[in-house]
Amino acid sequence: MGVFTDTTHLHIFTWVVGIILFLIAAVMAKGTKGRKIVHMILRLFYILIIVSGAFLFFKWSSSDAMLYGIKFLMGILTIGFMEMTLVRQNKNKPVTVMWVLFFISLLVTMFLGFKLPVGMKFF
Ligand code: HEM
Repeated sequence: MGVFTDTTHLHIFTWVVGIILFLIAAVMAKGTKGRKIVHMILRLFYILIIVSGAFLFFKWSSSDAMLYGIKFLMGILTIGFMEMTLVRQNKNKPVTVMWVLFFISLLVTMFLGFKLPVGMKFF
């Protein structure tokens, strides 16, 4: 299963596509078929992000269980805030707080990912 664990390329591909799909869905008009389809594909990418992240996690986390644990949690939270933003938009509920939480959790998740030893290391 080296494609999942030898490099972070697959994981990076999944979350980059996921974020792009999220931004596209978020600016599309509510209730349209197009938005529903983009949201559906995004949900598939949630799974791919989690699966590709979990492979890395189970292979490498023993080196720093706490930081890897927080990375895992923050990744899941980021996905949660994307989903909550879209669902709340659909229901015409306020989303400003969700956007802020999304950006904060995204920044923390990326910081932790680039800090951890596998793949790119910027921090
Ligand atoms: C939108 C959500 C996510 C974003 C933006 C994100 C971002 C990142 C980034 C920037 C990296 C560093 C890649 C590199 O150094 O080459 C990374 C690595 C990683 N991610 Fe995620 N991730 C997300 C979700 C997840 C989830 C849900 C999990 C766990 C199931 C996870 C587990 C990991 C692991 C274990 C690594 C390897 C860390 C290392 O050893 O360097 N990620 N992620």
